[in-house]
Amino acid sequence: MPIGTTITEYFIEEQRRIKGVSGDFTALINDIVIACKAISSAVRYGSLVGVLGTADTENIQGETQKKLDVIANDLFIKRNEWAGHVAAMASEEMADVYHLPPQFPRGKYLLVFDPLDGSTNTDVNGAVGTIFSILRRPEGAVGEAKEDDFLQPGARQVCAGYALYGPSSMMVLTTGHGVNGFTLDQRIGEFILTNPDMQIPADTEEFSINTSYMRFWEPPVRRYIDECLAGKEGPRRKDFNMRWAGAMIADVHRVLTRGGVFLYPIDRKIRSKNQEGKLRLLYEANPMSFIVEQAGGLATTGTQRIMELPPTDLHQRCPVMMGSRNEVERIISYHLDAQ
Ligand code: AHG
Ligand code: MN
Ligand code: MN
Repeated sequence: MPIGTTITEYFIEEQRRIKGVSGDFTALINDIVIACKAISSAVRYGSLVGVLGTADTENIQGETQKKLDVIANDLFIKRNEWAGHVAAMASEEMADVYHLPPQFPRGKYLLVFDPLDGSTNTDVNGAVGTIFSILRRPEGAVGEAKEDDFLQPGARQVCAGYALYGPSSMMVLTTGHGVNGFTLDQRIGEFILTNPDMQIPADTEEFSINTSYMRFWEPPVRRYIDECLAGKEGPRRKDFNMRWAGAMIADVHRVLTRGGVFLYPIDRKIRSKNQEGKLRLLYEANPMSFIVEQAGGLATTGTQRIMELPPTDLHQRCPVMMGSRNEVERIISYHLDAQ
């Protein structure tokens, strides 16, 4: 049985193209891949190994953690703290920057992650995933990495990726030269390149939004979705389809695969809680935006490119609208019209 290009082979070949690199980045990716394989296995065995259900603890966002949120966070930390490639890490499940234990060498990268996105889907055997973003520690920074070091706009990401644990497990990554997708071959335990150079079609007839919040939406989002719902008889003159998996990672993966738009806008309910959105900038919106843009799509808050937002907090939130270029441009124009 011939084996396709493994993810390790892919990154070593990439590394050979760039003169004088240390191999640190490739080694870091390797550890992230192993962490995701371990999380994939925990997710897959589910109830058989007692990993489902609530952990009865709360994270910094005030959300009840699932056992798998905690397990996935721990697996990611343990796999990435020892090798000397990262300076520090930050995650949805930890209030503050994670400093490496003193015995491990410090590296030049910062790793930010959502260990398990869509974790409520574990209750219903639905798709979940891991999202990560790699930043370079700012030049000249000394001592232990601080929160400030992480507060870089998404445009400075070195790499962004996600692992989706669906009927098959996939890893999708970008280093700023397009997007590649790899599928886990369970028989040999390796991610194999199956979706080279992923591209989001510019036009679509599919949208993804939690319509139960419709009564709280602001006029531009309301207008966009109303026009989609009006279908052939409305101003768009075509019928639209709706899909919502309840995990950003699964919804955006679908957008990457066949086009569409994913929206988690700010609304009156979110504003009433003094929040700027639901999804988190550093470990959800930025990495997914980098991937979507590299696949030819767009990612906006409605009024600003997500990857240009200046972060002020590790757990900052923002509105998210991303996907097929022509649809996102339309959504942006509706926001401009409303100003
Ligand atoms: P997480 O499980 O990491 O907290 O993220 C859940 C997010 C996102 O994946 C999903 O799109 C959204 O929450 C769903 O929110 P609603 O339940 O408000 O639709
Ligand atoms: Mn999430
Ligand atoms: Mn999560």
